[in-house]
Amino acid sequence: MKILIINGPNLNLLGRREESIYGSKSFENYFAELQEKYCNDELTYYQSNNEGDIIDKLHEEGFGKVDAIVLNAGAYTHTSIAISDAIRAIKVPVIEVHISNVNAREEYRRISYIAASCIGTIAGFGLDSYRLAIEAVKK
Ligand code: DQA
Repeated sequence: MKILIINGPNLNLLGRREESIYGSKSFENYFAELQEKYCNDELTYYQSNNEGDIIDKLHEEGFGKVDAIVLNAGAYTHTSIAISDAIRAIKVPVIEVHISNVNAREEYRRISYIAASCIGTIAGFGLDSYRLAIEAVKK
């Protein structure tokens, strides 16, 4: 399968950012492990701190270039109707992912503007949330 992982704002700082919440591994290192584990699949990775770039990427890949998209929209999860609309506009299924348990944190993180546009949500399992999303997509 072709699976694209999209990470939103501040996720480029994984491994250096609030380590008690997000852990000490960089996403690049984790992604290399994922690629090794799923060597029969085609995993690609894109990160941007900009809402419009994330929307452009969803448009670019979401009409069949990949089979599924795993999206951690970061803080845009809680603000972006535009990303939610983009997910609804494309044909490829999108899974919402969070490293932390957003429901056990600040009140504003309990609201997801994108959840209803996605086929499902996985949150709270650390970086393993991405692997769980890939497993869900493959099933
Ligand atoms: C996050 C949770 C968001 O609330 C936060 O803004 C992030 C990361 C997570 O993966 O746990 O940037 O999406």
